[in-house]
Amino acid sequence: MKSSLQHAFNPEEFRREGHKLVDLLTAYLTDCREAIAMPVLPPSAPDEMERYWEGELKKQDFDLQQFYTKLITQSNHIHHPRYMGHQVVPPAPLSALTELLEALLNNGMAIYEMGPAATAIERVVLRWLAQRLNLPASAEGVLTSGGSAGNLTGLLAARQAMCGYDIWEEGSHDEAPLALMVSEEAHYSVARAARIMGWGEKGIVKIPVNGNLRADTRTFNQTLQKARKEGLRVIAIVGNACTTSTGTYDPLDEMAGFAKAEGLWFHVDGAHGGAAAFSEKYRHLVKGIELADSVVIDFHKMMLTPALTTAVLFRNGSHSYETFAQKAEYLLVNGKKQAWYDSAGRTLECTKKMLGVKVFAMIKLYGDKIFADYINTTYDLGHTLAGMLKRESGFELATEPDGNIVCFRYIPLEFRGDADALTAEIRKAIIAEADYYIVQTRVNGKTYLRVTLMNPFTGISDLTTLLGRIRNSGDALAAKN
Ligand SMILES: Cc1ncc(COP(=O)(O)O)c(C=O)c1O
Repeated sequence: MKSSLQHAFNPEEFRREGHKLVDLLTAYLTDCREAIAMPVLPPSAPDEMERYWEGELKKQDFDLQQFYTKLITQSNHIHHPRYMGHQVVPPAPLSALTELLEALLNNGMAIYEMGPAATAIERVVLRWLAQRLNLPASAEGVLTSGGSAGNLTGLLAARQAMCGYDIWEEGSHDEAPLALMVSEEAHYSVARAARIMGWGEKGIVKIPVNGNLRADTRTFNQTLQKARKEGLRVIAIVGNACTTSTGTYDPLDEMAGFAKAEGLWFHVDGAHGGAAAFSEKYRHLVKGIELADSVVIDFHKMMLTPALTTAVLFRNGSHSYETFAQKAEYLLVNGKKQAWYDSAGRTLECTKKMLGVKVFAMIKLYGDKIFADYINTTYDLGHTLAGMLKRESGFELATEPDGNIVCFRYIPLEFRGDADALTAEIRKAIIAEADYYIVQTRVNGKTYLRVTLMNPFTGISDLTTLLGRIRNSGDALAAKN
């Protein structure tokens, strides 16, 4: 055997380097837990960063631990309490450790034989989740890689179930073009799924939102009738739990009632906020999720698990077998139409990561309580921040937050210039200082700063300091204009 292969598969080297890596990550986690001052997102430019790594690739020498250290330094530090950017969770450290096991075992999951334990674990985890959402015993589903793939999976099932013929086999031959209804605030993956299914822009019938940015119940009927008049065949309505931009929950129970009355499939995009079902305090936000025909929940958003791990649940589990009904003689050999244990027949992926394993470990290590505690802590923090913003002069909220996503802006009292440009400049200044990572969004045609409180160890003092920095930057920038 070639010596490079002997070297690469040396168990002793794995042990040695592994221990060093765990020590390195432990030091990193400790720094984050102690909130030591560090650039949360070290400022960098994409082209410069590429040149750096191009140079590293060309170098003769290489030290694995130095590489790890450099990578940590240059990355976005999600575990730092002043990370408040996009909706990616700081994973519970032991769930990342479990992922190492998954990576090394590398069971491909396409069929039972390629991941026996992980296949059974996936099913057990999905049943556990379905029960927590109060879905009926008939519910079943799959784990897949991300909310975008999850929404596509759910909506493909909706299309197959609702179009009235076997569209998966026969291709599309509808007299009226198919469409779905969703609020104009939905994540783009819903519209993208409609486009992937060939429905185009017209296949996305937008439901207007009310003043709180929720899908406006009063417009449902009118929106549907108008779409029908225009010749569309609307087969589904999608509820956001919650929206990406402002974290707003649609009225799911009213959507469910409307879907039932009109014979529509009801899909819930709970990628971010479906996990509110674990919290007694915030469960009311997802009232009606139990009536969904399909639900998507990302474990890597509000369930403390490394990306990507997404649950797609179907109220009637048999729908999950129709979505990707695939003939693959070399792979799916058991010939049974509904073999729950051959996941390639039910997911977008063929080879798939052992997605349920780290979720299983989390449930067993910490119980349901950790998910409730995480939702309560971060959602409470969102409300605390909203309260602080209301008390501070010059700050305005885009909308009252439902949870841990808070959008706001700062306009100095005497400022008469372009508030959108000022807000974007403030964000740039905050990012350049690198003590915080925050993002921005557009709400009702205006630019706002956007903070997602993903870190349960973010404290009130972190928020107070942030608002002070925003005020100082805003005042300094306004004075220049
Ligand atoms: C509401 C919602 N749905 C879907 C997605 C897409 O999820 P993913 O990034 O896991 O593909 C997101 C991502 O932010 C989201 O917020």
